[in-house]
Amino acid sequence: MRFDTVKILRDSPGITTTLVVSGEDRERVVLRRLDLGRTWLWSRRWLEDEVEAIRRARLSHVIAPTIVHHGPDHIDLVRPFIEGMDVREWFASHPTRSFAEQLRIMATLFHALACLHRLGIAHGGVTPANIVLTENGELVLLDAGVTRVQLAATNDQPTTSSIGADRGDPSRNNGTGGFSADLFGAGLVLLESVAQANHTASVLRRTQPAGGDLTDLSRQFGLMGVPDQLRPVLTKLLDPVVAQRYQTAEEALGELEALMATGGDGTPPKGLLPRSDRAVPAAEPPLVGRHTELAALISCLDGAASGTGSVLCMLGDSGVGKSRLLEAVSEHAAQHSKVTVLRAAAFDQAPARPLGPFSSVFRDLAAHLRTHPSELQRVREELGELIVVVGDQVPELAGAFGGQAPSPEPGGWLFDAPGPAGPAAIARFLVTAFTPHRPGLIVLDDCQWADDLTWQVLEKFTELVVARRQRGLVSVSLIIACRPEVGR
Ligand SMILES: Nc1ncnc2c1ncn2[C@@H]1O[C@H](COP(=O)(O)OP(=O)(O)OP(=O)(O)O)[C@@H](O)[C@H]1O
Ligand SMILES: [Mg+2]
Repeated sequence: MRFDTVKILRDSPGITTTLVVSGEDRERVVLRRLDLGRTWLWSRRWLEDEVEAIRRARLSHVIAPTIVHHGPDHIDLVRPFIEGMDVREWFASHPTRSFAEQLRIMATLFHALACLHRLGIAHGGVTPANIVLTENGELVLLDAGVTRVQLAATNDQPTTSSIGADRGDPSRNNGTGGFSADLFGAGLVLLESVAQANHTASVLRRTQPAGGDLTDLSRQFGLMGVPDQLRPVLTKLLDPVVAQRYQTAEEALGELEALMATGGDGTPPKGLLPRSDRAVPAAEPPLVGRHTELAALISCLDGAASGTGSVLCMLGDSGVGKSRLLEAVSEHAAQHSKVTVLRAAAFDQAPARPLGPFSSVFRDLAAHLRTHPSELQRVREELGELIVVVGDQVPELAGAFGGQAPSPEPGGWLFDAPGPAGPAAIARFLVTAFTPHRPGLIVLDDCQWADDLTWQVLEKFTELVVARRQRGLVSVSLIIACRPEVGR
């Protein structure tokens, strides 16, 4: 079977994950090449059996891979390309979703794990990037049984942060592997997702010790604003003492279902208030100092309202308070200005999806244009032919513009190597989408994890804002936060 590469999504030791289009039907699929040269001899047979078992079982929330090529020292697997967002993004994109909805997603995750475990198969890499919410709002598990851990490549050192490292190597979960590591990984994913919704994810990143175990959970839950009802479940999933954790996915599922029956009444959970009612995340002390920095951010916000939007980049090491300041300026906007704030973030651990950090911004803008046809018409007129370029590059907008998401040409510039027009057109769209009647502030956190195309858009956006603001024509500002290690 022939595949044309669109983009390498992730290249980690032993596994290369690539977005490709298949030779015959031009479908977008994800190809994973597993390097078996570095694994135990029995890996190949064992892997083939697992893949076959998953495929035959047709589990409803598990995307089954198919082996398409057996090489002398590798195996190629494909699975469908799933449009959607990873579970952390899902929590972050709509922090005011009802608790019932959040619980439903959590329960579905454990239901999917329970089905896998019943087959005798451990997922082996329960990370946010492998848990995706499809466009229909359905949760699916990706890459079950075919992760690096499952390949027994234990000599490879994990390449990411301590949270990722903990996930990637079950031996760090107090010597437990397989099913137990899946449950611990799922607990960590849920904790991170809740923290993401509360804008307290960096607390977790900083307070997790290098060894991986989470200690003093109740204090951490307080800092992260974990809803009271959820705390017993997370405590039991993440208990440093393995014997005190849930022994099966069914057990955790049972408790989540009990919560759904009693606590998931559709109202926001205690400890996690709707954003507009929340000055700071639960249990956060008030902002101390930072008057100069906050004033600069508020001035950037106010510029958007007066046609003199600007771009502000906050650089600082982990823990200096970047996210906290973003929270503060967003709250200020909600209380004191008419500027619409669109917040988003890049994610570690996620394959660097082109324009990933902008996707929730695009979704919000698409929703606005769909419900305001005259605005859509104005944007069309102002962008002219560029609208086609924008629609081609941004699937989230293609629908609103009245087109279909494009099917990429193999090796085409749209995906592999964006042509010069792409980022500039997207930047034009972002500036055009806001008006003096509806000014906007785009806030992007954690840009050290942003993909190349996002950075190109940020550069073009900045050029455009600088060129136009003198004439008072810029009704949008952009604030990004970034750790200096990005080296850009
Ligand atoms: N000026 C401040 N006043 C009160 N609390 C603060 C202040 N600055 C930071 N904090 C607190 O310190 C912790 C770390 O801050 P924050 O998460 O904003 O850091 P960050 O720069 O975004 O880090 P990272 O790069 O890891 O995301 C948070 O609990 C935050 O509320
Ligand atoms: Mg932060």
